[in-house]
Amino acid sequence: MKNYLFGTSYYPEHWNEAVREGDPKLFAEANYNVVRMGEFAWSLLETEEGKLDFSLFDQTIESLAAKGIKTIFCTPTAAPPRWLSFKYPEILRADERGIPLEHGSRQHASHFSETFRQHSRRITRELAEHFAPNPNVIGWQTDNEFHCHFSEDHSQSAQHAFREFLKSRYDSIEELNTAWGTSFWSLDYQNFDQVETPKNNRPAASNPAHALDYYRFLNWGVTLFQREQVEILRKANPNWFVTHNGVFEHIDYHGDFCQDLDFLSYDSYPFFEHDPSKRPAFAAFSLDWTRAYAGNFVIMEHQSGPGGQGNYFHDNPEPGEIRKMAWTSVAHGADGVFLFRERSCRFGAEEFWCGVLDHDNIPRRRYYEVSQLGNELKAIAPKLLGSEVSVQIGIAGGDFVNDEAHLPLSLGLPKPKSVARILHRHFYENGYEVGIVHPQDLDNRIQTYFIPHYTYIDPEWIPIMEQFVRQGGSLIIGARSGTKDQNNNVIATSFPGALSELTGVSVEEYGAQNNPQARALPIRFGIFETPTSLWYESLSLSANTTAIGSWNARHLEGSPAISLRPLGKGKVVYLGTYFDEKLLPQLSLYLQSMDILCEPGFPKKPRQVEITSRQDDAHRYTFVINHGDRPIQFQPEHGLGTALLGYKNEQNEIELEPYDVAIFQSPQKLQES
Ligand code: GAL
Repeated sequence: MKNYLFGTSYYPEHWNEAVREGDPKLFAEANYNVVRMGEFAWSLLETEEGKLDFSLFDQTIESLAAKGIKTIFCTPTAAPPRWLSFKYPEILRADERGIPLEHGSRQHASHFSETFRQHSRRITRELAEHFAPNPNVIGWQTDNEFHCHFSEDHSQSAQHAFREFLKSRYDSIEELNTAWGTSFWSLDYQNFDQVETPKNNRPAASNPAHALDYYRFLNWGVTLFQREQVEILRKANPNWFVTHNGVFEHIDYHGDFCQDLDFLSYDSYPFFEHDPSKRPAFAAFSLDWTRAYAGNFVIMEHQSGPGGQGNYFHDNPEPGEIRKMAWTSVAHGADGVFLFRERSCRFGAEEFWCGVLDHDNIPRRRYYEVSQLGNELKAIAPKLLGSEVSVQIGIAGGDFVNDEAHLPLSLGLPKPKSVARILHRHFYENGYEVGIVHPQDLDNRIQTYFIPHYTYIDPEWIPIMEQFVRQGGSLIIGARSGTKDQNNNVIATSFPGALSELTGVSVEEYGAQNNPQARALPIRFGIFETPTSLWYESLSLSANTTAIGSWNARHLEGSPAISLRPLGKGKVVYLGTYFDEKLLPQLSLYLQSMDILCEPGFPKKPRQVEITSRQDDAHRYTFVINHGDRPIQFQPEHGLGTALLGYKNEQNEIELEPYDVAIFQSPQKLQES
């Protein structure tokens, strides 16, 4: 980003002229420098096929520009107009029983429908060419939240496209049969025409390899759908940036989908976590998870009031909470923040999705708080642009195959993302700088790297992991890792397969723990003994590997449960069970005592305080965030530099009001000493 973006989602189509006239001034006084528009306005932009009218948006863009506010426009394909689905019902996507979705909300068109794609290209081209010469349109969002409500598609268009996708993946039907293991339950296909998407109308469990290819197919379809729009936009004006707001299932944001964009955006609604004490960790995890896909990001929608839809209505953020959440997003890598939404709409499915302004358009505390935030961002954010979030502890995340392969055959075990969340929360709450890192991006800026039960280990990751360890990193791998191949079939060799050599481990026996109370399987390591849950593995170890923990019950008594292999300057640890909340506190202490895990940067910070930093070549920016509803004062363990926001008192303590934030800047050298 060249400039820090601060703005809102604006829907001029929802308001009359009198209200619209006052908006540029209101927005300028809220310190916005940009708005996002158009993502659901197709029926207004094109009232019937070929009848285009962009005048409302032309006028709005101009009157905002007069106040110094630029526009991000959106391709409007998330809300196809009724005339389109009425005239071309074949554009509708179909649910898991093959029943077409209907007009009446949004996201009901199929990315695989050639008719819909033609219309998507056409409206994108019309808009792109129209706005290309307009200097006040600075960039684009494609569609809106692909796969948000509904990510599957079993329409006829999808059936046809699925076969094409499979033909591009497999040279012959025999190859597909082998990859999917169709000899099981007589599932063999004689030709591609017989293959269907895995609908939810089978009498028993269906084939996990079929399911994984179907998820790959959904990702492929949405990526191509988006790419067609991106190419049109880039051709019309190469200076525009293009982004998309995520993140949802069945999209490989670490892959081509984001390669086609300038940056990924994220829509942040921390109040979906109803427990205020868990909300900070919940938000930090979501932000870190987003950053793992494509680096720094923009918050395209930021909670700016209580959200309400259907049968739920969030708590109203208390005074200071919106500002605090926005600064938290910045601390975790946001290089721009847009509120959602500018004003609560009086009608429609989200009439109680509350905005910065209430329905009556009277500025109240949320508006003044946002305006304060805008003022602060104006002063501070330009320094932060492009700086990276610092991470001591990395947790593997954001890998499409691992996340998706788990879905059709979970065995009742938590998905890798859920375990990553547990690990993240543990380190986050204990004063570590923790982040999510895709295995391909692993390097020695991180000290310790956890792999939360990645059943698929891409052979290309092995040299990256090995180099990481040889250069001093600690690699800690959870049970069941490496047990499957890229087709979602079980590997033919002993577990952990591709990781056997690196870990020095071979799994002798494994099993689930469905009732650990009845048949407890504690692990003993050092001075600790802790219960385990979900899973056990007993390990046999190669010559260069030692047991640093063993099972302490039943027929496993004495058999290795945790292994350590020193390698170069680093260490590889394999844990023969699942990471969970009971195990982690003691395991962390034990690993610290063995120099496998580093010490936290701020072990004594108050629990309600988060300390997160971003850094560039010259500076470190430390964010101290009071997530609690009580004022707090405390003395951080290290000097944090000069205050850009917030202050220290005479005793050199940081004092923070409820939900308050302080930001400090220090030269990198100060931190190192
Ligand atoms: C997002 C979406 C917005 C709005 C918001 C509140 O998922 O992009 O259009 O629906 O949530 O529900």
